[in-house]
Amino acid sequence: MSIKVALLKGDGIGPEICQAMMEIFTQLKAPIEWIDVPCGEDTFEKMGSSMPISSIDAIKELKVAIKGPTATPIGGGRKSANVVLRKSLDLYSNVRPAQSIPGVETPFKNVDLIIIRENTEDVYAAIEHTLHPDVWQCLKIITRPGSERICRYAFEMARNLKRKKVTCVHKANIMKLTDGKFLEIFREVAKDFPEIEANDVIVDNVCMQLVSKPQQYDVMVTQNLYGDIISDLCAGLIGGLGVAGGANIGKKAAVFEAVHGTAPDIAGKNMANPTALLLSSAMMLEHLKLFEEAKRLRNSLFKVIQEGKSTTKDLKGSGTTKEFTEAICRNFT
Ligand code: NAI
Repeated sequence: MSIKVALLKGDGIGPEICQAMMEIFTQLKAPIEWIDVPCGEDTFEKMGSSMPISSIDAIKELKVAIKGPTATPIGGGRKSANVVLRKSLDLYSNVRPAQSIPGVETPFKNVDLIIIRENTEDVYAAIEHTLHPDVWQCLKIITRPGSERICRYAFEMARNLKRKKVTCVHKANIMKLTDGKFLEIFREVAKDFPEIEANDVIVDNVCMQLVSKPQQYDVMVTQNLYGDIISDLCAGLIGGLGVAGGANIGKKAAVFEAVHGTAPDIAGKNMANPTALLLSSAMMLEHLKLFEEAKRLRNSLFKVIQEGKSTTKDLKGSGTTKEFTEAICRNFT
């Protein structure tokens, strides 16, 4: 019996990389039935929202979704479809693995990190106002339940994956209340996981450490803004946004998505690299306990990347999206 998964193709290169993923899943014989769920710019034109309530309800019912990138105007205009989705479904945990891929040239080898970013609080609560015509304020919201559940999620993931260490990233030397409490709660939660080493590091220091010796970290847990920045920095360590998968997990639903944007400069040109979405889809297969399919997908993808012939230009290959996809389909064991 196949499992129904919500498919949100998104904008720009979203439909192209989703098409690649669907072809690969067909060849993989993965027992997944895709249910198209509208989102993005076209949906905004037709329905007045880039993430309408009907789409949120469809994901809630199906419980698992995979999503292509969606465009968000800068500085004004409509709300980010991602922010609406994460808030509506309370997808509190953003999981961003950063693992070296053989064949992708980077200054670092053997990077194997997982960043767990709190997804609903912090300055992303979007509480901003004007205090005076020339003074603006943005509130940073940190709560005990929000901090506790994300720290617990990080330790539980570390335990399940047999990881050795969880590092809390913060700025408690300056924000003594909000970040101080986050760190205090992290230390309380750590007591329930005595077999896992728990330590902490200040956010500016971690940036320097990550670009010097990223191998010293294992699982990292942090607030929304620091997590947003650090997870992109870590994507850079393994070859960029084109090879970084991710997931947004909550109690009601799980939404898997590539971390890059809509890449408007290459949209529709058969140049998009589907790797990040494929890595997210492998995480989705694991979430659905389809471990064998996830392993076969990763093995074939990594083999094609290591050979380097059929990969897209951003990976220094000469292949198109279609050629890259076909090569992955040919290499399943
Ligand atoms: P971007 O990630 O779309 O593009 C940055 C650069 O990376 C571009 O040169 C692009 O061609 C390249 N690139 C990105 N993904 C690629 C892929 N899979 N294959 C090959 N090259 C790739 O970032 P940008 O330009 O800042 O954002 C464009 C739009 O995407 C904006 O509207 C932004 O709001 C949205 N966005 C959406 C996200 C999401 O839905 N999760 C995440 C980030 C941005």
